[in-house]
Amino acid sequence: MWKNIQETVNFLQDKGFIKIDFGIILGTGLGNLTNNIDIEKRIPYEDIPNFPVSTVPGHKGELIYGNIGDKKILALRGRFHYYEGWSLKEATFPVRVMKFLGVEKLIVSNASGGVNPNFKTGDIMLITDHINMMPEHPLRGENDDRFGPRFLDMHEAYNKRMRDHFEEQAKSMHIALQKGVYLALQGPTFETPAEYGMVRRLGADAVGMSTVPEVIVAKHMDMEVLGISVITDLGIEGKVESVSHDEVQEVAHRAEKIVGQLVVEFMSTYE
Ligand code: HPA
Repeated sequence: MWKNIQETVNFLQDKGFIKIDFGIILGTGLGNLTNNIDIEKRIPYEDIPNFPVSTVPGHKGELIYGNIGDKKILALRGRFHYYEGWSLKEATFPVRVMKFLGVEKLIVSNASGGVNPNFKTGDIMLITDHINMMPEHPLRGENDDRFGPRFLDMHEAYNKRMRDHFEEQAKSMHIALQKGVYLALQGPTFETPAEYGMVRRLGADAVGMSTVPEVIVAKHMDMEVLGISVITDLGIEGKVESVSHDEVQEVAHRAEKIVGQLVVEFMSTYE
């Protein structure tokens, strides 16, 4: 993996992907943030050596480099999910590349199903912590100490200073913010009512199919992580309704503008 990363990093550095303040993974719910980016360069994943290429409708694959205000950002538009068939090492490869391009602060976003009875669709949830229920682990296998430690401390996977700042930002913009624990399952099925119930009883507020592997790998390399989830449907006991990919996309799109404004303000004021 080390050699592949070097090759990909060299390729991107030669193309001028340097001096980056924030890395962003644009999941469902933050895709439109690209409208706020003053784009300098963009490269489709298929043109980047060693990069996986996404297969999910609605998840366009390209790497975007540019400015938001006075901050230089590198955005992954389109992510790689376990349910697509990638191993979690493959799915998190772009996060390793980001770190080696100099990214120290990472913002990840996703869409999720809310299981906290106080949530409603369209809510924005600041991820405070996660529960990893994926059937594979991105750090399984021999540890390369050049990346990070074998036994990784996870007590603050979602950086406290970033979270505090994000909360303050939301307050000052009068944007309502939920907070909670995100639990990752492999998908691609949405949950049965019994599974949503299980997720709640396990201590989570929302459930999804992504993000946790990326956050583990980012933390492995000591990056500061901020996680944001858009609640696109509800799996609340007694209130579980049917859900489709289209509905998830639609609710996420409606929340996108406000999430975008919040993230833009966050980045311009966080040092
Ligand atoms: N479950 C899992 N993943 C999701 C959901 C959900 O209800 N909504 C959006 N992504």
